[in-house]
Amino acid sequence: MISQKSIQEVLETAKVEEVVEDFVRLKRRGVNMIGLCPFHNEKTPSFTVSPSKNIFKCFGCGQGGGPTQFLMEHENLSFPEAIRYLAKKYGIELEETVASPEFLAEQQKLDSYYIINKFAAEFFEQQLFETDRGKHIALPYFKERGFREDTIKKFSLGYAPNEWKGLLEEASRQNYNAEFLKDLGLVSDKGFDFFRDRVMFPIFNLSGKVVGFGGRILENKAKAPKYINSPETEIYNKSKILYGAFQAKNSIRQLDECILVEGYTDVISLHQAGIENVVSSSGTSLTKGQVQMIKRFTPNIKILYDGDAAGIKAALRGLDLVLEEDMNVKVVLLPEGEDPDSHVKKVGTADFKKYLEEKSQDFILFKASILMEEGMNDPVKKVALIRSVVDSIARIPDPIKRSLYIRECAKLVEVDEPLLISETNKAVGQRFKKQKKEKEQKQLPESNEQPDPFTVEKHSSLSQPAVETTDSKAAGHEFQERDIIRILIHFGGQVFDDKEETSVAAFLLGNIEDVIEDFDHELYQIIAKEALDRLSKGLAIELSYFTQHNNKEIQSLSIDLISSPYEYSENWEKKWDIYLNTQKMPDDNFIKDSQNALKRFRLKKIIRKCAENQEKIKNLGKEGDVENMMLHMRLQQKLIEIRNELANELGTVVL
Ligand code: UTP
Ligand code: MN
Repeated sequence: MISQKSIQEVLETAKVEEVVEDFVRLKRRGVNMIGLCPFHNEKTPSFTVSPSKNIFKCFGCGQGGGPTQFLMEHENLSFPEAIRYLAKKYGIELEETVASPEFLAEQQKLDSYYIINKFAAEFFEQQLFETDRGKHIALPYFKERGFREDTIKKFSLGYAPNEWKGLLEEASRQNYNAEFLKDLGLVSDKGFDFFRDRVMFPIFNLSGKVVGFGGRILENKAKAPKYINSPETEIYNKSKILYGAFQAKNSIRQLDECILVEGYTDVISLHQAGIENVVSSSGTSLTKGQVQMIKRFTPNIKILYDGDAAGIKAALRGLDLVLEEDMNVKVVLLPEGEDPDSHVKKVGTADFKKYLEEKSQDFILFKASILMEEGMNDPVKKVALIRSVVDSIARIPDPIKRSLYIRECAKLVEVDEPLLISETNKAVGQRFKKQKKEKEQKQLPESNEQPDPFTVEKHSSLSQPAVETTDSKAAGHEFQERDIIRILIHFGGQVFDDKEETSVAAFLLGNIEDVIEDFDHELYQIIAKEALDRLSKGLAIELSYFTQHNNKEIQSLSIDLISSPYEYSENWEKKWDIYLNTQKMPDDNFIKDSQNALKRFRLKKIIRKCAENQEKIKNLGKEGDVENMMLHMRLQQKLIEIRNELANELGTVVL
């Protein structure tokens, strides 16, 4: 294991422009360097490298990070592999630490799993191309299905022999641990090969390692299942893996869209037809983890369904999940009896693409129109239909998007818009309550999907002075929290006060420590807590720490926060006041910036505390607990004082 110290040394030494330039031609442009993005197809450069911030960011496809992330993405390296690469490049000798035996054993076990899966995949490939039954039965099966040899190789397809211990015996010949083969589901508890006489589809993770297999029966026997699949293992978390994602990721990024299909063969056929931004959930309904994985590459998802009515309705329910992740969802219904694999073969690439283009519909409108067809003339059904549509809309985190959908749906289902608005508001409120309750039950940090109250008006007329609403229970504080985190990440390492020798990070964290549990946004809270932890250990809180963070979410958030393409204008602060926090400030303004951000942040939290305390007072009054009620009333006075003071300093009015 590489020591923390060595990792640090590598991270401090590696220069993003030097690393990137080994792969991309860069030109100077002011303080930055630009080039053609290696992660998506472009003719005019939007790939920007900032030597001073030691990051790259593509404003076309959104990919960004530090030197290590560049290597991890571009060269498909793991973090330690990227560190080793950089160490070699810069001639740094890595110090290897001795990890605990348990850790090492665990690590070695996982490594072995990958190695064994790779061995198995190669074994199946070799069986396909070099054995009699492979050549004469399995390979022709693929060919009859129209798979070309380059396609078969690209997806490392194979054949599991018709033997009880074919794989197992080859594995023991090569000294692989039989227990590990069992762990991976390649060998059954009784000691036989799990996949026998099946064509094999290896399943890859995002960095191209085999994590499991699907095996298809050669002919359609009624008795045996058509496909059998590897079980979930320590390296195969089914809810996070999508079939084809490794082969599709670059294309998804380039086209800024991900096509979702049901089966292995659908992915492969579309690939072969030149449509490469395709993944499959392997016949199961989509999970949150899978959606989040897609979201790393694009917010746009297009789901292809075989055109039978029952299937569609079942699928519709699963899709609300995708809305909650704030993805743009389109659906395409294929002609009755066709799946993507069969249809693309029938009509060819050009017509298939055209079909997707012409037949794709927005998911919510699609749902509304389907329900509409059956509910139109039945008032009872119509109520249910409106509820169901409203429930979908309420899951969309972005209030502006919600309002657009309401307008469209109101027309579609022929109800008044205000009615739909108020129904949606109710649903948003209910979802919020439900989440809150679940959170309390689970004692987990608050989820990051906080619906804010549905008020388009508030967004469209940012009148001044800015008004803080006391109905803050329903209002998320992400804006303010994001602002704090932005400053923490961007300027945390800067000196805040020479005399007291405090850093911006120390100043910020010292002032939010008491409300650190009150964050609405889970990721922001994680960052704040981690920074606090580092601060207490005397470790530096620096930009590079976050832009090179192991946690992909933290890493890409920090890139986003510090590389806003907007320029700051003096006027904005006067005009928008609290809304300024979504804009970038000039680099030298961070002291004033952090003071104000802190006030806005604290004000939000105090207002919420006021509301909660008020509620408490009311309840204590009902219970007749006068003594405690008085206590809380005094607290309320204090809270209101602080609140007004903060509001005053910020020039805002509290209603
Ligand atoms: P389909 O039945 O649509 O199969 O199941 P397919 O992908 O079109 O396969 P072909 O064209 O008949 O060869 C869709 C997906 O559901 C999973 C597989 O991942 C399959 O690709 N599945 C299906 C199973 O896991 N087990 C089964 O028995 C059937
Ligand atoms: Mn099929």
